[in-house]
Amino acid sequence: AKFIKSETKISGLPKADKPEYAFIGRSNVGKSSLINMLTGQKKLAKISSKPGKTQLINHFLINDTWYLVDLPGYGWAKVSKTKKIDWNIMINDYISNRGNLLCLFVLIDIRLDVQDIDLEFMNDLILKGVPFARIFTKADKLSKNKAQSMVARHNKYLKKHWEELPPTFITSSETGYGREEVINYIEELNSL
Ligand code: GTP
Ligand code: MG
Repeated sequence: AKFIKSETKISGLPKADKPEYAFIGRSNVGKSSLINMLTGQKKLAKISSKPGKTQLINHFLINDTWYLVDLPGYGWAKVSKTKKIDWNIMINDYISNRGNLLCLFVLIDIRLDVQDIDLEFMNDLILKGVPFARIFTKADKLSKNKAQSMVARHNKYLKKHWEELPPTFITSSETGYGREEVINYIEELNSL
């Protein structure tokens, strides 16, 4: 994996000529950590215990053939209101106009019940026709049983709103749990 660039504007992004996968979700959910876990490079994406660490669109090139993209979070980042609005515009612009974005991974902290902000965001993706999948993060924080029951709770709730559930993964960036599954899914989309 190779860091390519950080950008604030769609016009400045790398050419959209390779498959691309981006990670989104509430601030602090573990987007940057997951990119490091997937690539096996602990210091590739910048991580912080303080929400609001990632502030730009960060492109990483994998095996010279596809991109992983780290995005700022939505929700409770400790940054100014104007900055949050700017991020929302930037993210919206990015997901609506990036033709090579094959899947947007929406990250969800496995310890939490369905959050309105995640539901709103995913509903908007459905409206826009943006392909997405869910990744539950920080699975190491719960027992395997508890983790499964949290996912079941989410699914039960979403089934009331949606006809079908998106592809779903459970991961831990601490232990590497779920790495194979996410990478296999990406490789599958790459080969389509
Ligand atoms: P922003 O860039 O601020 O939106 O956050 P982010 O979603 O990129 O989160 P980041 O990867 O920076 O991680 C936030 C905090 O959660 C850090 O303290 C990480 O060490 C921790 N963390 C991330 N993933 C995991 C995980 O799988 N398990 C545990 N135990 N902690 C994690
Ligand atoms: Mg981050």
